[in-house]
Amino acid sequence: MGGLFITFEGSEGAGKSTQLARLVEALQGVGIAAVVTREPGGTPFGTRVREVLLDPELDMHALPEFLLYSASRAQLVQDVIRPALERGEVVICDRYFDSSLAYQGAGRGLPLPLLQSVTREVTGGLKPDLTILLDLDPVTGLERAARRGQPDRLERADLSFHQRVRQGFLDLARQEPQRFTVLDATHPPERTAQAVWKAVQAHLNPLH
Ligand SMILES: Nc1ncnc2c1ncn2[C@@H]1O[C@H](COP(=O)(O)OP(=O)(O)OP(=O)(O)O)[C@@H](O)[C@H]1O
Ligand SMILES: [Mg+2]
Repeated sequence: MGGLFITFEGSEGAGKSTQLARLVEALQGVGIAAVVTREPGGTPFGTRVREVLLDPELDMHALPEFLLYSASRAQLVQDVIRPALERGEVVICDRYFDSSLAYQGAGRGLPLPLLQSVTREVTGGLKPDLTILLDLDPVTGLERAARRGQPDRLERADLSFHQRVRQGFLDLARQEPQRFTVLDATHPPERTAQAVWKAVQAHLNPLH
């Protein structure tokens, strides 16, 4: 499959959406129109699933939570990500399966082999070419996210959960250093955007 698949990962308030928007601008600057999407969501079905997942009124166990994320992901891969990559386009996704491994695995304690095996089915084995992990301590991240307004269901989880999530992301990055670029998300957005652009350019050069 052609194209280039880039994902942004990291905990609440790390700056994923901010950096994604900057990257889209940088790509536009060199004449590349990227397909931008997010998880959960990105399709009409996924958007409905997202509402359920982020609803602070709802309680859910770890397995059904994971299965809902997986349902949204399966639809997104088939309807949006795979077709765009087959057209040779650049696809940028705000979160992808690494978030499930970090949140439902490291965070909630579901066994990684189970998550990985379902994820392989759900994605058809589609992995990002590049994953930008924005690493931030959860206290700072939750403070940033709180400035945005009412916390969603995940933002309400306790601090130790968010600390396990952060560690989970770092462990994933250590296992696949060639796919991950880990950036310190405490830096000013401009500096991080430059680091993101450098990582992306390394993948663009052979293509464009
Ligand atoms: N490098 C930075 N330094 C300080 N504040 C930042 C930085 N990057 C983003 N912010 C601010 O932090 C808040 C969260 O940023 P953003 O929404 O991009 O994070 P996110 O990772 O997408 O969060 P979420 O997981 O909740 O979607 C925003 O108000 C944003 O303006
Ligand atoms: Mg965001």
